[in-house]
Amino acid sequence: MRINSLRLQLLAWVVLPLAGLVAINLWTSHGSALATADLVTDRMLLGSARAIAEQVTMTDGVLDATIPPAAIEMFDTGDRDSVYYHVKTAQGRLLTGYPNLPEATLPPSAEATYRDHRLRLLTFSQAVVGAGEDSPITVTVGVTLAGHDAMVQRLWFGAFTQQLALVAIAGLFVLLGLHRGLGPLIRLRDAVRSPDRSDLDPVEVPGAQSEIRPLIDALNAYMARVRAQMASQRRFIANAAHQLRTPLALMSTQASYALRETGPDARHEALVALQASSGRLARLAEQLLTLSRAEPGSRRPRADRVDLTEAARQVLETHAPVAIGRDIDLGLDEAGPVTVVGDGTMLREMIVNLVDNALRHTPPGGSVTVKPTALGDEAVLTVSDDGPGIPKDERDQVFERFYRIAGSTDDGSGLGLAIVREVVENAGGRVTLGDGATGGLVVEVRLPLAGS
Ligand SMILES: Nc1ncnc2c1ncn2[C@@H]1O[C@H](COP(=O)(O)OP(=O)(O)OP(=O)(O)O)[C@@H](O)[C@H]1O
Ligand SMILES: [Mg+2]
Repeated sequence: MRINSLRLQLLAWVVLPLAGLVAINLWTSHGSALATADLVTDRMLLGSARAIAEQVTMTDGVLDATIPPAAIEMFDTGDRDSVYYHVKTAQGRLLTGYPNLPEATLPPSAEATYRDHRLRLLTFSQAVVGAGEDSPITVTVGVTLAGHDAMVQRLWFGAFTQQLALVAIAGLFVLLGLHRGLGPLIRLRDAVRSPDRSDLDPVEVPGAQSEIRPLIDALNAYMARVRAQMASQRRFIANAAHQLRTPLALMSTQASYALRETGPDARHEALVALQASSGRLARLAEQLLTLSRAEPGSRRPRADRVDLTEAARQVLETHAPVAIGRDIDLGLDEAGPVTVVGDGTMLREMIVNLVDNALRHTPPGGSVTVKPTALGDEAVLTVSDDGPGIPKDERDQVFERFYRIAGSTDDGSGLGLAIVREVVENAGGRVTLGDGATGGLVVEVRLPLAGS
């Protein structure tokens, strides 16, 4: 069975070992209570036997043993003990007392059973002046064990209750200490749960211990991250809505214009413009979708083995008609397979966006080259064009969402390079912009090569 409560766990850790120790302690204290009771009883027996022996005298040549009442009465402690005794000569002749009372076999005392009672016995011998062969006489005194046992109980029970109280008090203090110790955790829970907390403000728990501080700090850092993410999502949605609104308004105007026109040529012209706008809108929607797919956590992480050369060839095939239409020499500079691990669809989308950009910015008659190579343990994919390039101070910004260089005439959405960076970073690589030999832009993507 597993205990899931911290309180119960700590209580068990404190109380169980303590109870074990107390049990051992009680066992030893029972032993010492018994030893004490034995000692006291033996002293009394010896005292009694001595008192009896003192009274044995020679009167008129005859041994006379008179039992002094004090020797018996000293055992009258209220526990109704019976006292037995006898006095015998050296030859074993009984002078007085109980004839079959056994003698103590062990010095100084022994236990024996007599008349169905357990007795503690002591035998004491003493020389009597003038008694001749009868000297020394032996006095045996035995007493039942009621007083003895009562003394053991009293001594032991005192220890027992004391130690029981000790364990109970220790348990109580554990609970009390835990209650105080867990206070900050409970305040943290309440602070996090509180209905007043709609935003992800950092929680403050005054008086939190050094063990709990890191938890609170980690929680606050986590909430700060989530807050930043939420803010960037909000910005992105606002941006996207803004981007969608402009072409929609344009399309609405174009549709009204087409409706107003009566001449077939003018109407046709308006409809062609409307078609172009809707195409741009569709492209924007597609780019938004691709970007949201590229974000970590939106798709199940994939670890396909992707040959960049093969992927580039497929992309170039689909873009060949555009290149031919604009008289651009679109080429693949290949040197065998270059395999990386990642999401195949997204990696292809990355190449599509780079080739799309290159084709768009290269003037007719220019050339665009895609070159995948394996370099050391890295896959390097470069896309170079003959366009105007990107000024150095804008090379960081162009990767931002919706960022377009001022004065860009063509109508992009500004998401292409953001998608590229997202895909490359998710695959554990990086992307940089550089100058081409002929002045165009060179985009270089570096990804870890797949192990064979
Ligand atoms: N090969 C290139 N040569 C010159 N400028 C480029 C090139 N590629 C991108 N740029 C500049 O960087 C800007 C951002 O590019 P990005 O691909 O992110 O957006 P876009 O091409 O405008 O839109 P989208 O690709 O989403 O349709 C572009 O507006 C363009 O000015
Ligand atoms: Mg683009």
